[in-house]
Amino acid sequence: MTFALHAIASHPTIQDSIQKELPHSLSSAQDFEQLQYLHCVIKESMRYYPIVHSIPSRIAAKEEELNGYQIPQGTMLMCNTYSLHFSTELWDTPYSFLPERFLEEKSIKAGSWLPFGLGSHLCLGKGFSLLEQAVFLASLLKEYTVSVREEMEVCKEFLFAPKPYTLYLKKK
Ligand code: HEM
Repeated sequence: MTFALHAIASHPTIQDSIQKELPHSLSSAQDFEQLQYLHCVIKESMRYYPIVHSIPSRIAAKEEELNGYQIPQGTMLMCNTYSLHFSTELWDTPYSFLPERFLEEKSIKAGSWLPFGLGSHLCLGKGFSLLEQAVFLASLLKEYTVSVREEMEVCKEFLFAPKPYTLYLKKK
């Protein structure tokens, strides 16, 4: 959420588009689910800042062929989400922050956006987290316009996290 806020504060035109989409009343879960552009911004911020930059390793239970590679039984496998999210084979201009790329969900290749993992260990909190971010961001941006005056530094440890930064709020 703090990553998304920084991205929004750094891109005034994106913030403007989010605010234009906000309806007069935001009360039910449905009101928040319908904020299509805001959801694109949240998804793009989770692509651009993959908090879980590497999905915890798995051990191959049996020998398997994967994309032309022979994987012996017992091999440790890791998914580097960061490389995936910035792959030029999967994304056009991956270093640009472009929420619009999520407007056409069908154009996103399966398995190329994995902030919540995939398969049997897919994050149980995925739906909750996406809705929580929409509720928080929409409620804040309904009342305030946010801005930043500094670059954000990212703490790159077990998880990615923003280092403390100052966010300026102006009442609309
Ligand atoms: C932005 C917020 C979140 C991110 C980026 C995130 C990311 C992830 C990822 C990548 C995994 C897969 C790990 C793997 O494959 O080994 C995972 C698993 C999991 N997450 Fe989240 N998560 C978030 C929020 C939450 C929340 C809010 C909850 C609970 C309410 C939650 C509960 C879980 C659980 C229980 C698993 C384990 C699922 C399993 O192993 O079957 N997560 N999460």
